[in-house]
Amino acid sequence: MNNEVEINKLVNFTIKTAKSAGAILLKYYGKELLIKKKSNYNDLVTQADLESEKFILNEIKSKYPEHDIISEETNSGTINSSFRWIIDPLDGTTNFAHNLPIFAVSIGLQYKENTILGVVYNPVVDKCFYATHKNGAFCNNRKISCTSIHTLSNSLLVTGFPYVMDDKWDAGFDIFKTFYSKTQGIRRLGSAALDLCFVAMGRFEGFWEYNLNPWDICAGSIIVKEAGGLVSDWNNNSTPISGIRILATNGLIHKQMVKILTENKFELFWD
Ligand code: IPD
Ligand code: CA
Ligand code: CA
Repeated sequence: MNNEVEINKLVNFTIKTAKSAGAILLKYYGKELLIKKKSNYNDLVTQADLESEKFILNEIKSKYPEHDIISEETNSGTINSSFRWIIDPLDGTTNFAHNLPIFAVSIGLQYKENTILGVVYNPVVDKCFYATHKNGAFCNNRKISCTSIHTLSNSLLVTGFPYVMDDKWDAGFDIFKTFYSKTQGIRRLGSAALDLCFVAMGRFEGFWEYNLNPWDICAGSIIVKEAGGLVSDWNNNSTPISGIRILATNGLIHKQMVKILTENKFELFWD
C-alpha cells in the first residue's frame, strides 16, 4: 500500500475517530462507573470501554466495510481482507477506573499483516501520537524521536505486569529486579500503548512486557519504529504481533536488554 493520498486519508480518518472516541472516554472519566470483571478480579471493563469501542467499530464499518477488525472487547469475525484494524478502545482501564489520567485510545491498521499506521490518543492531555510507515512519528503534529542514550546505566525503563498470576509471575519480577539494579529506574504506568509512545518521544529508553495482546501494541509499535527505535520479541528476532513478549527501545540499548531477557534463568518464557 504505497499510495500517499490514500494513506493520508486513512490517517486523518483514524485521528478523527480516535479523538472522538477519546471524547466519549472523557464523558465518563471521573464519574461513577459500571465496572465489570473479565478474566480475573483485576481485569476490568467499563461502559466507557464498550461505548468507545462501539463508536470506533461503527465508524470503520461504515467507511471501510470491506476491512477486517480485531478489537479487544468485541469479536467482529474475519472476511479475509488485506486490511486489518487493531483496536484498543481504552488502554489503561484500571487507571481510568481509579481516576488516573494515564489512558488512551489505540488504533492500528495493517496491510497484508504489516502495520502501516498507528494512532494513540490520550484525551486528558489532548495528546495525539501517530505514525505511518516511513514517514516518521508525531505528537500533535510535532515530530518525535527516541533518545540517544546508549547504556542501561543511563536509562529509564517502563514495564507492565499481566493480570494473570501464572507460572511466570515470579520470574517476571526477577526480570524487573535485574533491570532495576542496572538502570536509573523503572516505571509502571498502566497503559502499554502510552508506554510505547513515551519510548518514541524520549521519556523512556526501553519498554518490555509479556502477555500483552495485539491491540495493546499494534499502534504504539509503529510509532516507536518511526521515531527511530526498535521493536522486537525478547529474542530480537520476530515481530511481536501477538504481544506475547514485546521489547521496544530507542535501538541503542536493545541488545543490552535482549542479553538479559534471553538469560537461561528466564527460559520459561520461551514456550
Ligand atoms: C492493559 C494496559 C497495561 C498492561 C496490561 C494491559 P487494558 O490494557 O496496557 O499497561 O500492563 O497488561 O492489559 O486492559 O487497560 O486495555
Ligand atoms: Ca490494553
Ligand atoms: Ca482495553
